Amino acid sequence: MLLKWPPVNVEKVTPLHRPFAERLKDIEPFRVVEVLDRAKQLQAQGRDIVHLEAGEPDFATAAPVISAGQASLGRGETYYSQAAGIPPLREAISRYYQQQYGLDIDPARIMVTPGASGALLLIAGLLVNPGDGMLMTDPGYPCNRHFLRLVEGEGQLVPVGPEDRYQLTAAKAEQHWQPNTIGVMVASPANPTGEILTRQELADLFQLCQQKNGELVVDEIYHGLTYGEKAPSILELTDQAFVINSFSKYFGMTGWRLGWLVAPEHAVASLEKLAQNLFISMSTMAQHAALACFEPETRSILDSRRDEFARRRDFLLPELRRLGFDIPHSPAGALYLYAGIKKFSTDSQQFCLDLLEQHGIAITPGADFGRHLANEHVRFAYTTSMDRLEEAVRRFDKIFS
Ligand SMILES: Cc1ncc(COP(=O)(O)O)c(C=O)c1O
Repeated sequence: MLLKWPPVNVEKVTPLHRPFAERLKDIEPFRVVEVLDRAKQLQAQGRDIVHLEAGEPDFATAAPVISAGQASLGRGETYYSQAAGIPPLREAISRYYQQQYGLDIDPARIMVTPGASGALLLIAGLLVNPGDGMLMTDPGYPCNRHFLRLVEGEGQLVPVGPEDRYQLTAAKAEQHWQPNTIGVMVASPANPTGEILTRQELADLFQLCQQKNGELVVDEIYHGLTYGEKAPSILELTDQAFVINSFSKYFGMTGWRLGWLVAPEHAVASLEKLAQNLFISMSTMAQHAALACFEPETRSILDSRRDEFARRRDFLLPELRRLGFDIPHSPAGALYLYAGIKKFSTDSQQFCLDLLEQHGIAITPGADFGRHLANEHVRFAYTTSMDRLEEAVRRFDKIFS
């Protein structure tokens, strides 16, 4: 017999909503979501939108990786795996460092994580006490400061600009170092600017952190997506920095949620303890799929995609400059062009909404990446085909003619 519960009269129940935790006030949504939502609405109405906002490769995951994922499922690998990642993947990543950088990294120092995002969370949990701060660039990847806020720390934003190729130099870091600063977080190549830190700049930052008894965290998620000189890894200089990387960008596996970190030896056991508690394990199937990333067949697919990104950047950069966008440097990598729009507007959010509404071009407002001159900047992601980039430029030509 079915049991019938007495109906609850919801009208009579006064909702008792406790306010959410204070930290929520400091965690900002992505402004681009407003642009994206409107883009979807317009598309549903039949408008043709050129998408230059997505921070992920437009190419689907390479076929050999998908096959490896399917094979893993076929073998019934549907269970939890080790918190630090399956050993063959940690070993494969170690061999990758050997091939790419000539480095011997003990697989025991490599932890597979749920995306670079998972690695950032682990590092925040490991290093930050309430009230601690870490220096980071403004503009920069916004989630970094939110991860710190989540563990009651703070991102200490350092305004950067073309004079330092939008990177945090040791001199600037020293100038902004505060009594509660416990280290520096940088990305090279960076989001949204695509700029890299040279070997010397990395060495100077590391030296400063040593002097100040601080930690250096380097996000190398866009390694592999450089279009001239290769970005140096901090691991070429020291085994005492924390390095973040991911299968999302060069390896084209955003939706599989897999990344890794390389930690100094003394930190591994504590990170593993955190990982056990926070994640139990990564997707087992995704890890088996990722093993195929290192096969020569996949690498050649990924390298030709990188060449296509280079072609797109080489097309879009001069065109945007010709149109009047201010891009002082030629970014060395990542998927983005960070452009000054002062000639057109000092309200980047409105500029982006107008561009979308009137011309069907979706880009990301600068406010998504920080505060420093954010209203005068936008980010273009060349994560769409050459045809669509050409279409964007045709539309811009009409707007500005
Ligand atoms: C600089 C940077 N770090 C980390 C991430 C997070 O990447 P994921 O969690 O997909 O590996 C991103 C994503 O865009 C990024 O740009």
